[in-house]
Amino acid sequence: MRITVIGTGYLGAVHAAGMAQLGHDVLGVDVDEGKIEQLANGHAPFFEPGFPELLRNNISAGRLNFSTSLKQAAEFGEVHFICVGTPQRPGSTAADMKYVDAVIEGLVPHLQRPCLIVGKSTVPVGTAARLTTKVAELAPLAKVEVAWNPEFLREGFAVNDTLHPDRLVVGVASPEADAKLREVYKTILDADTPYISTDVATAELVKVSANAFLATKISFINAISEICEAVGADIMPLAAALGHDARIGNRFLSPGLGFGGGCLPKDIRAFLARAEELGIEESLAFLKNVDSINVNRRRSAVNLAKGMLGGSLQNRRITVLGASFKPNSDDVRDSPALSVANALQRQGAHVRVHDPEAVENARAVCQALDYTTEVEKAFEGAELTLHLTEWQEYRQLDPNRLSALVTSPRILDARNTLDVDRWRAGGWTVRAMGRPSR
Ligand code: UGA
Repeated sequence: MRITVIGTGYLGAVHAAGMAQLGHDVLGVDVDEGKIEQLANGHAPFFEPGFPELLRNNISAGRLNFSTSLKQAAEFGEVHFICVGTPQRPGSTAADMKYVDAVIEGLVPHLQRPCLIVGKSTVPVGTAARLTTKVAELAPLAKVEVAWNPEFLREGFAVNDTLHPDRLVVGVASPEADAKLREVYKTILDADTPYISTDVATAELVKVSANAFLATKISFINAISEICEAVGADIMPLAAALGHDARIGNRFLSPGLGFGGGCLPKDIRAFLARAEELGIEESLAFLKNVDSINVNRRRSAVNLAKGMLGGSLQNRRITVLGASFKPNSDDVRDSPALSVANALQRQGAHVRVHDPEAVENARAVCQALDYTTEVEKAFEGAELTLHLTEWQEYRQLDPNRLSALVTSPRILDARNTLDVDRWRAGGWTVRAMGRPSR
């Protein structure tokens, strides 16, 4: 099948390569000429394990091409996936729909034959219905249907999540659209992947509900973590005990610095903003707490750091491990690690940040911090080290060796993934969020 994927960011680029891997002829489209040139040459514009190989294999097989032209997209595809961003609107908590709208306005006037437009971007409920009206105005003669097929991929696992999703959800207005999407995903459906076909509003809501639930689960355990801090209890055995209850489960129950990234934080705010527009904000009011508990974790980390340094950050040398919003990603959008690093720097500390993949992206948004990609260099002269993004390589660090490089062997584990006993045995003073100071 001839498929276009419009918007080639973290979501779209992987989706385009994934659809080509399923055997379709795919055209990836973006307004960013530099990004399209990179992709067309087989270079991934971001860090995502397994993606460069998927990209290059499918380009070589002749199934994957790239373009900046929506006219070319209109002529090429019978299914058009929309994968552009829906960031938080400046000065508001609502989602900014200008990129989605621009795709419709740029694509639809060129459509000459029947086709299906399938939104994958995370949007406020009601978007597909609104776009259906807009499409009818822009292309009154062409038979064009708008469907919604939310994406649940996680950065860092995007290739696997695209090719082996745990479910497919489609929102459609006709049996023809449903049949077309079953054809697109035939290989995945043949592997007995659950397929939920529903109306467009429900499909839109599934996505925001899933992200709201995940955010709530994280903030729940972090709220309990704060209680633990207040009474000297330990969040780690507590979380493990909860996780053994199969009704609760242990995933997304890792206490620490909380969630960030380009999805969870802005999605819960946009969900609440949409509920306000609909006059039903009371039902989702708890999401305000989910958000504030999450933001508060960053403040708590800064306060803990200050406490560990005797009350003042002025001119203190601090090493920060991690800049990306989570490991296995170079994405720094709303990164808890960078937000804490910035706050420390604003309060007078000299902050040196290490990250294996995200330094370039971090430097582009926070010039004031000092960066390195050499982990041992990051430790030199530090009076305090903060572990803020749990990259696997930090678990392998040798505390004995590192204690000789720092000025003071003191570390705050804000992700609760370091072996606290090993660090203490290596001569370090260790604090961990939600755990007793010993
Ligand atoms: C999230 C969802 O997990 C995906 O299903 C969804 O498709 C995606 O948003 C999206 O809307 O596009 P992602 O943003 O890649 O995926 O990251 P997650 O793995 O969900 O992690 C989000 C944040 O929560 C990270 O900052 C992570 O460190 C934090 N987290 C996660 C915790 O603090 N504790 C946990 O137990 C789990």
